[in-house]
Amino acid sequence: MTNGTSLPRLHDKVALITGAGQGIGREIALRFMKEGARVIVADLNEQRASAVAAEIAAAGGNALGLEIDVTRPAMISAVIAETLRRYSRLDVLVNNAGIGSNEPVLELSLEEWERNLRVNLTGTFLCAQAAARVMVKQGGGRIINIASISGQRGGVGRAAYGAAKAGVIQLTRVMAVELAPLGVGVNAISPGPIDTEQSRGTHTPDTRRAYLDRIPLKRYGRGAEIAAAAVFLASDDSSFVVGHILNVDGGFDAAGLIFNDKK
Ligand SMILES: NC(=O)c1ccc[n+]([C@@H]2O[C@H](COP(=O)([O-])OP(=O)(O)OC[C@H]3O[C@@H](n4cnc5c(N)ncnc54)[C@H](O)[C@@H]3O)[C@@H](O)[C@H]2O)c1
Repeated sequence: MTNGTSLPRLHDKVALITGAGQGIGREIALRFMKEGARVIVADLNEQRASAVAAEIAAAGGNALGLEIDVTRPAMISAVIAETLRRYSRLDVLVNNAGIGSNEPVLELSLEEWERNLRVNLTGTFLCAQAAARVMVKQGGGRIINIASISGQRGGVGRAAYGAAKAGVIQLTRVMAVELAPLGVGVNAISPGPIDTEQSRGTHTPDTRRAYLDRIPLKRYGRGAEIAAAAVFLASDDSSFVVGHILNVDGGFDAAGLIFNDKK
């Protein structure tokens, strides 16, 4: 896919995507490859990371599959060091690794609360900070944080997950403001419900019904629809977009009353 010239939109960019062993992250990795990027597929599950990297290589792309735990600074440093050893730069970070949670606040344990904040918020901060340090030194880059509509609205069962994702949204804005003058663009994507292993594991039938009621498009999204937004935010097409939270949610955020009044 090209941008009007003959070059693909992410031609030769080096992109690190966390949690890319499955789901939304995998879709972003595959799409970035099609757009000409060299992709580091990083995941807690090393086998899945390697499998996605192999899938990209088999399709003629350039990819590296690495194990990462985004809550562990030493592992993040090792992944970034390996990226620089292999490709000499890091142009794009997609902070996609995350875990779901669905616990009523009265039953929410401290352990579950902390697990959510640690992976979804602290993990995002640690990766973004480490990548930004490289990007500032090399003179530019782009960071895309995957937030959630659960970080914008008070959904039932989303105390821990929603608080963590709200934190990701605010972290995005602060980092964007601090880093824009240094050449690093920071933005977020806020997905609505997307059909992936995570949502299949955590969305009850009631959750599904409630989402479909609230979403004008009346369906779950696809990972590929998040990947399309990520290409925009990773590319030079978004050069004046700073600290933006891009909702890719089928209209969830826009919706007020939805009904079909024939009279
Ligand atoms: N699926 C949805 O409906 C939805 C909606 C809004 C936001 N999101 C967000 O999108 C992102 C991807 O979600 P998904 O649905 O593809 O999830 P998923 O569970 O299908 O995939 C998440 C991946 O992250 C990896 N991961 C988990 N913990 C990790 C850690 N500590 N370090 C490194 N990797 C780790 C997992 O191994 C997995 O491969 C998450 O941040 C999620 O919160 C998802």
